[in-house]
Amino acid sequence: MTQNELKEAVGRAAIAYVPDDCIVGVGTGSTANYFIDALAEIKGRIQGAVSSSEASIARLKKHNIPVFDLNAIDRLPVYVDGADEINHQLQMIKGGGAALTREKIVSAVAEQFVCIADASKYVGVLGNFPLPVEVIPMARSYVARELVKLGGHPAYREGVVTDNGNVILDVHGLRIAEPAKLEAEINQIVGVVTNGLFARRRADVLLLGTEDGVKTYK
Ligand code: A5P
Repeated sequence: MTQNELKEAVGRAAIAYVPDDCIVGVGTGSTANYFIDALAEIKGRIQGAVSSSEASIARLKKHNIPVFDLNAIDRLPVYVDGADEINHQLQMIKGGGAALTREKIVSAVAEQFVCIADASKYVGVLGNFPLPVEVIPMARSYVARELVKLGGHPAYREGVVTDNGNVILDVHGLRIAEPAKLEAEINQIVGVVTNGLFARRRADVLLLGTEDGVKTYK
């Protein structure tokens, strides 16, 4: 199977986690896009969605799925999103699509986080994928120097402005032995909005697309 076929399989499998008559949290990226397309097929049994990016909002609207403001809803039973890396404790690196801050907000509200990923994303130790950090623009150089002190090699993601009007530093060279500790440390740096480690709010369920079918990890 191709990587896209694996992504489509997990996008479809995540529909089983969507309760009737609910508002669904929808993430960002190519795997989440397959979930949105599968959601369109069952849109008659949900109220609508909240989303973590303008790009996903546009795709939801294209399918005529109602999109809600996160501040206007009482509860969010489930959030479905991809990951750039996910370890065996279901902690993740996210933000390859620059949507990490809104992803962290929506997933914090959700009662259950279902991660959908192809087998290439499943790793023993996080950090091979450069860790995205969303930064207030005027703090970019300062934050970069602080990230070097933590042992990383930050690279400015040229030409990218987040949906929140900020910039991204991608931190290379980290071998992340203690994801929750590093997540907190980076978030302490003044000027950081948030970083792409999802260790404190990890996934509750991983649907992993493999050659042997979709595997479920909890
Ligand atoms: C978006 O900012 C990311 O967190 C995505 O969830 C992540 O990059 C996975 O993207 P793909 O599904 O396109 O691999």
